[in-house]
Amino acid sequence: MTGSPQSRFRIDGKVAAITGGGGLLGYQHARAIMSAGGIPLLLDIDEKQALEKAKLLSDTFSGECYGYYSDITDKKNVQVICSQLTDQFGSVEILINNAANDPKVTEKPGEKPWSRFEHFPENIWDLDVAVALKGSFLCSQVFGSEMANRRKGVILNIASDLGIIAPDQRIYRKNGIADDMQPVKPVTYSVVKHGIIGLTRYLATYWADTGVRVNALCPGGVYNCQPPEFVRKLTNLIPMGRMAEVDEYQCAVIFLVTDASSYMTGSVLNIDGGRTCW
Ligand SMILES: NC(=O)c1ccc[n+]([C@@H]2O[C@H](COP(=O)([O-])OP(=O)(O)OC[C@H]3O[C@@H](n4cnc5c(N)ncnc54)[C@H](O)[C@@H]3O)[C@@H](O)[C@H]2O)c1
Repeated sequence: MTGSPQSRFRIDGKVAAITGGGGLLGYQHARAIMSAGGIPLLLDIDEKQALEKAKLLSDTFSGECYGYYSDITDKKNVQVICSQLTDQFGSVEILINNAANDPKVTEKPGEKPWSRFEHFPENIWDLDVAVALKGSFLCSQVFGSEMANRRKGVILNIASDLGIIAPDQRIYRKNGIADDMQPVKPVTYSVVKHGIIGLTRYLATYWADTGVRVNALCPGGVYNCQPPEFVRKLTNLIPMGRMAEVDEYQCAVIFLVTDASSYMTGSVLNIDGGRTCW
């Protein structure tokens, strides 16, 4: 092992592409990268969000952070953005596959909630799988292959506690509604989050001898002003008795993308207040 333990948590000048970088956690991952000396690149289909968050981060840290339009479900687009970034920065050494759809579980009075499995819409299945699974596959293929050629790189896949356990549908229940009208957590969320862990293990072993490490982080739910009744039901399922604060994954991200985790690949790190123990 070279360098002091502290120095192994640094990534000074290294470039990290973060998919869904304009969203809630993408911004937090970017903060983590910047506080370790790296340069985050926020790739998002919502270009405005990516640009705004990148500006906010650059101003806050007086450092480099850039936002880009990118649709990770489109291979051509991923190839173009990868070569643009490689031209601009020399290489992209870190990829955080973070983008995923997580539609809120809601229902309209009298209407069968769209999320119920029996009539789950095919178009939503296709879109959710395209963003989280195909998107992670394409970004890993395009950025990861470059890393493997250079014999150095780190991929961090953002899964979820729901990549480990099934959703407890009781927490989404509403009083006074028939069972077949109750909203549920969409099947796609479970499928893509379990799938991303499969992709992690596949790539960790596939690229094990190339210097590319691939790990997954499974965050639990982040408190984001959800209704108090929902928060109460969810926190009953969490041994620590609370949801995560939005910045509580930053240290884990730094650990997983730096040499601090140099002997770690194919691992799945749960940070969920203990939820997956129960
Ligand atoms: N927020 C939580 O409580 C929580 C908990 C566990 C896991 N996660 C996971 O963390 C990740 C980030 O979650 P979040 O809460 O920040 O979500 P978010 O909805 O705030 O951000 C997701 C981002 O992905 C972008 N995106 C969607 N489709 C895209 C595409 N085709 N190409 C590029 N970008 C696209 C969206 O525009 C959005 O900015 C997700 O994988 C989510 O499943 C979140």
